[in-house]
Amino acid sequence: MWAFLVRPEGILCLSSALSVMAQLKYNFPPRLNQTHLTPSNLKNRVEGLKVKGSNFTLEGFPFLIVAGTIHYFRVPREYWYDRLLKLKSCGFNTVTTHIPWNLHEPLKGQFIFTKNLDFMSFLLTASEVGLWVILCPGPYIGVDLDLGGLPSWLLQDPKMKLRTTYRGFTNAVDIYFDHLIPRITSLQYHKGGPIIAVQLENEYGSYYKDKGYMRYIKKALVARKIQVLLLTADDGQDVTKGHIKNVLATLHMKNIHKETYQKLLLLQGPSPILMTVYTAKSFDTWGLLRRNLDLHLLMKDVQEMIKLRFSLNFYMFHGGTNFGFMGGAVETQKYEPVVTSYDYGALLTEDGDYTPEYFAFQEYFSSVLVVSTHLQSKHNPKAAYKSVIPTHYLTLWDILPYLEKSISAGGILMSKRNVHDRAQVFVDEKYIGVLDQSNDQLTLPAKNHYKNSWTLSILVENQGRITYGLNINSARKGLTGNIYLNNSPLKKFKIFSLEMKPKFIQRNLPNLWKPIHDHSVGPAFFLGFLRIANKPRDTLIKLEHWTKGVIFINGQNLGRYWSLGPQGTYYLPGVWLQPGNNEIIVFEEVKAGPEIKFTDSAHLGF
Ligand SMILES: *[C@@H]1O[C@H](CO)[C@@H](O)[C@H](O)[C@H]1NC(C)=O
Ligand SMILES: *[C@@H]1O[C@H](CO)[C@@H](O)[C@H](O)[C@H]1NC(C)=O
Repeated sequence: MWAFLVRPEGILCLSSALSVMAQLKYNFPPRLNQTHLTPSNLKNRVEGLKVKGSNFTLEGFPFLIVAGTIHYFRVPREYWYDRLLKLKSCGFNTVTTHIPWNLHEPLKGQFIFTKNLDFMSFLLTASEVGLWVILCPGPYIGVDLDLGGLPSWLLQDPKMKLRTTYRGFTNAVDIYFDHLIPRITSLQYHKGGPIIAVQLENEYGSYYKDKGYMRYIKKALVARKIQVLLLTADDGQDVTKGHIKNVLATLHMKNIHKETYQKLLLLQGPSPILMTVYTAKSFDTWGLLRRNLDLHLLMKDVQEMIKLRFSLNFYMFHGGTNFGFMGGAVETQKYEPVVTSYDYGALLTEDGDYTPEYFAFQEYFSSVLVVSTHLQSKHNPKAAYKSVIPTHYLTLWDILPYLEKSISAGGILMSKRNVHDRAQVFVDEKYIGVLDQSNDQLTLPAKNHYKNSWTLSILVENQGRITYGLNINSARKGLTGNIYLNNSPLKKFKIFSLEMKPKFIQRNLPNLWKPIHDHSVGPAFFLGFLRIANKPRDTLIKLEHWTKGVIFINGQNLGRYWSLGPQGTYYLPGVWLQPGNNEIIVFEEVKAGPEIKFTDSAHLGF
């Protein structure tokens, strides 16, 4: 689990743990000078990251890992250098990143490692700016992605057991690793690359459905020539279950208390402590308030951890954006899909700007570490473009004339929880209501309103598969069972999958756009053009009076929007715009607003 708020009791627990740890306190030099331990200063490589007693060492020198997480897939490639440079100049020495299997193998057997998924370039850029890399290749990674980064096609096997040694799963992992791991091996430390450690899976101790699974993952990596230090990462309470022999157990900061350290000591003897996920913030979910950062608590924890010579990793240093449909959901008491922004309250904002916390940490790190802050990235101004008024539209019925089921009577329509996650119901293209996790019943109008037979249409939306938890095997989407009308199951639906891939948006939308006079009713696509005279800049889209849908710019899926909030603006990277005309297509499910607005300041909620 990546997402949690540091609750007051969590802080108390940490403090008591810290006092227990005080006995291990070292006499710290005024400023720790690790500048000789950077990628460019270590050309002659003999011994990579090692565990020596309670220290990490690099080339035999004690080494404190000060890391931050950036996900290359949540940041436009053109901005990787900028974000990594900002990480380095804040005082960090390492970047942590995860590899999302579902994006790299979107269809079974179809692999993508180019453009925004060219993680090798991301790692080389990290090395270039002087950062080491901790790499998390999964196969399960969590990180608030749809199905925790596992491809949803795995669930086409009705017997699938994700994250176990079930053959259907390991066969798929083996094929994926055969494509993935050779791209990683040449970037390991001893080959001159920046990777100093590789994390196995993610928080397996909290899942733990198969005792042999972690051994299988370790073998799968080692057999493919992963030779750097291996890590596991777990919550304090699960650290014993997640741990495997000869792999360093590290911590995600939740429920940390004395017993955690005793457990760690028992498991692996004296060892360095690495907080693989340190965060005081979390992502936001639709319909709830924004979660806030308490810098005071965060700074106090970090200072204590550094004093005690904990290595640590900020999750996130820079969150970025859940572009497209990459965002997942959490299911605690109820199902909560994550919003499009993955700002996370991180040290850099979603669009890469500095925050006051960034400068506070830069100042703090430069007081305890020798930091090269001379590297500064240039400021990236944003634009508030003139509003775009959509000129054309296409209704969903125009492009899917056969999405239908004929019925001949009204009555009570029941989903019996077979709708995942949210369905709009229409009778003869007229909106009737929504079926979702909290409402599984609708009344269809009685017959006399209509002809002898009419068309029942159900538009089902996948709002994101759960990102962690014991129930990930059942995260199937769409209509997962019968829909009932007056207690009899309705059969013979024609089902159309509206995947809304860029290809579909660019080529398959038939050339049937109709001029807008006063049409605003969804579900429909609305088309407009943003004209830009000069070099495009970053901007934020504001959809006042629109309800819910997806935004595409020049064929790029920017992600979901929803008037429910808390998110009120949507990040549009300038590098995805071009001078001249830019095509904007908004798929609106309910009712379109009159215009698409742009602003230069983000509003992510209160
Ligand atoms: C840090 O160490 C490097 C060489 O290891 C040295 O050149 C540099 O002057 C040191 N910096 C400070 C501020 O002590
Ligand atoms: C760990 O590093 C500290 C600080 O450099 C050093 O004083 C200590 O001796 C090291 N401990 C071990 C076991 O190497």
